[in-house]
Amino acid sequence: MKIDFDLHGGNIEKEAKKLGISIEDIIDASASIVPFKLPKKLTKYLVDSINSESIKFYPDRSYFEVKNSISKWHNIEPSMILPGNGASELFTWAARDAGLNGISSLPSPGFGDYQRALECWNAPYIYDQLPLSWSNRKPQSFPIIPKTNVLWITNPHNPTGQLWSRSSIESLLPNYKLVICDEAFLSIVPGGEDQSLIDLTKNHTNLIVIRSLTKFLGIAGLRIGYAISNSDRLLKWNKMRDPWPINTLAVYTTNMIMNNQKMHKKRLNKIHKWIEKEGSFLHANLSNFSSLKPLPSNTNFQLVKSEGPILNLIENLKKRGILLRDCRSFINLDENWFRISLQKKKDNIQIINTLKEYIS
Ligand SMILES: Cc1ncc(COP(=O)(O)O)c(C=O)c1O
Repeated sequence: MKIDFDLHGGNIEKEAKKLGISIEDIIDASASIVPFKLPKKLTKYLVDSINSESIKFYPDRSYFEVKNSISKWHNIEPSMILPGNGASELFTWAARDAGLNGISSLPSPGFGDYQRALECWNAPYIYDQLPLSWSNRKPQSFPIIPKTNVLWITNPHNPTGQLWSRSSIESLLPNYKLVICDEAFLSIVPGGEDQSLIDLTKNHTNLIVIRSLTKFLGIAGLRIGYAISNSDRLLKWNKMRDPWPINTLAVYTTNMIMNNQKMHKKRLNKIHKWIEKEGSFLHANLSNFSSLKPLPSNTNFQLVKSEGPILNLIENLKKRGILLRDCRSFINLDENWFRISLQKKKDNIQIINTLKEYIS
């Protein structure tokens, strides 16, 4: 299947160029990245590192220190951790194992990159449809039990924003040869860590958990994620992949945020408060449009159903410098759906006011 990267969202440079405006004048609600700058101390550290020519050298190929710093934060053996060039690189390796274990189920609508990863290895997969109706933000029981060998789970789910309960996933583990759980957004969800599967990797060798620092730090351009699974599996992946997949600045960033508990917790706290406050604001205001139905979300994006096609609306907002996520690239969604990511208060107000000019 063809993957249309233009429909992924986050094409901010391209859109700014088309509109003849600067990137700063665009409100990008199409990609779901936290809109806060990096902690000052971290930025300074990165700038100082460049000035001191640290990027002149190859990073430590064993990534010993990064593994250790992640290990301390999650209380997991360093040998059970493999940092990668974003979660996306690790999906590619997880997909290799998936292919070796049989057919994968991709609950849909879902994040398209798993399919890209599986296709790298000609690994077979099917889509299993998720119900598209739920009424609150409580952790929900994972709603389907696909009859496949491998199950891919996203927690919280993208694009729906649902948070799956850990207990419901734990009880599914014996049914599968392999379960891959993408927790890229989990740390930013208020109360999300309670549903994490990370510690289950200690006793379940058929489980891979994948995390990312992209969303939490707002560093999509730096590329750092990590897999947590049994050490034999990760050793195999490490032998096959490129020698230095994670760059020095990504290494430094990870070490600082994982070792500095105070900075880490302060950042999480700020994001959780913002999601609680702005999530409720956006949900309430979107609900006021008679033509829109935003679905309850636990994270920094909301899936919205419109009573009719919204492609014109998306185009009109784009001309006003506001990018929404067209959901046509998600299996089982069509032109009646869009996804919107939370912004700072001022921008959320601007989005709502602009929407009022086009819909009732
Ligand atoms: C559910 C999900 N997982 C992972 C990623 C990608 O993470 P990374 O930037 O670490 O590759 C995304 C990016 O949109 C995502 O939506």
